[in-house]
Amino acid sequence: MARAEPSGPVVHAPVAPGRLPLLGHALPLWRQPIAFLESLREHGEIVRLDIGTWPVHVLTSPEHVHAVLVQQAPQFGRGRIFDRLRPMFGNGIVTTDGEFHRKQRRMIQPAFHRNHITEYAEVMCRTAEEMSTSWTAGREISMVTEARRYALSSVAEMIFSGDLSRPAIAEVHRSLPIVLEGMLLRAVMPKSLDRLPIPLNRRFDAAAARLRRIIDQVIAQYGAEEVERHDLLSLLLSSVDAETGSTMDPEQVRDEVIAIMFAGTETSATTLAWIFHELGRHPEVEERLHAEVDAVVGTRPVRPADLSRLPYANRVFQEALRLHSPLLFTRQALKPLTLGGVSIPAGAELAYSPYALHRDPALFRDPTVFDPDRWAQGASGGPRDHRYIPFGAGQHKCIGDSFAVAEILTAVASVASQWQLVPAPGVTVRELPAGMPQPSELPMIPVSRH
Ligand code: HEM
Repeated sequence: MARAEPSGPVVHAPVAPGRLPLLGHALPLWRQPIAFLESLREHGEIVRLDIGTWPVHVLTSPEHVHAVLVQQAPQFGRGRIFDRLRPMFGNGIVTTDGEFHRKQRRMIQPAFHRNHITEYAEVMCRTAEEMSTSWTAGREISMVTEARRYALSSVAEMIFSGDLSRPAIAEVHRSLPIVLEGMLLRAVMPKSLDRLPIPLNRRFDAAAARLRRIIDQVIAQYGAEEVERHDLLSLLLSSVDAETGSTMDPEQVRDEVIAIMFAGTETSATTLAWIFHELGRHPEVEERLHAEVDAVVGTRPVRPADLSRLPYANRVFQEALRLHSPLLFTRQALKPLTLGGVSIPAGAELAYSPYALHRDPALFRDPTVFDPDRWAQGASGGPRDHRYIPFGAGQHKCIGDSFAVAEILTAVASVASQWQLVPAPGVTVRELPAGMPQPSELPMIPVSRH
């Protein structure tokens, strides 16, 4: 538990092995970031690592993570990675904190209400159907590319609707992947390098500017017409804060739209890709999933009402997300405090890794085994409180979690009703380090099920 207690003896967190002067732990983080982060739990519940000269306290126990994210959340700000993202993503809820964040979250939350998710799910069903009917039996597809395109379409169609927005959706498909790709690098590299006129920076800045421009145009068009729409952009433009009566200006709406695109695309795409990877490696799981989808959906297109009737698909989703979770998020102590007996100075960075928690053998039985049944109700050794946090927790918990569940289940059911996806032979799929570790490649061959 975190306590604001600056006085008393100062107790430092143990430092992870392998620190070098000036470089800190840059080498193991560069060479094998995932394995290195996972290894930290062997050294304590709060372990210090240095990224160059930047110290970060990594929390390896679910109790400390819960204390920071939920119980003592007001004592923590966003931290450096988010600060570095702000110039690109503006002041959307992904990068802000404190009272401003709370107000924005109150105004955005209704757009993710269950009723709206059902509306968005109608579009997801059509998009998933288009994806799976575009494939040809026996012709290899890249599931990484397919999943990314599907996730981009789902988010873009939720935000903008109607013909007016077609150019915006096309621009999102063109520019967002460039921004997402460059973003991680920007988050960790020194600010002084942002302005270097190298191709990486130029491509990134141009893509971010195009995205902002097209969204501004759509906002201006929405404002000029009197059409009632049911998309997120309209909801944000008409949103009124119940506590203060304030509305969002167009620039703030644009920042929120970009923040939501940024947070909601790669995460869902990656999860979807890993699900098909795991299904391809576990025929017994795949068979049970197919049997469930056959009974609920059959051969017709998936409907939103089907989604609550697919408990096994849901377990497959939860289990794939357990094994393939986001790697690292940061927070920053706003004042000096002690956490688990360790002194944390004001301004210190803390980090939590859903990925490493979910693979901790002390928390999950056989943690590297893909076993959807660990999520069956009453199953022994199942996950306990605070241990499973793929969507984070507390005031910054993922606002799009229900959206992601609907989006992913729709795609899984739609594909499974038509195809068995067989891994292309001779390919070893590796895990690439990223905000959410990704499959290096995922070539699969669709085999018709009917
Ligand atoms: C499987 C898919 C997803 C995963 C694993 C995921 C994971 C997360 C996590 C762990 C956080 C908390 C970060 C922190 O503690 O700082 C978060 C925040 C957020 N997510 Fe997601 N996410 C997913 C999908 C989505 C989708 C589909 C959307 C929107 C359409 C979305 C929008 C957001 C936003 C806006 C935030 C910031 C919330 C805030 O700070 O108030 N996410 N997500």
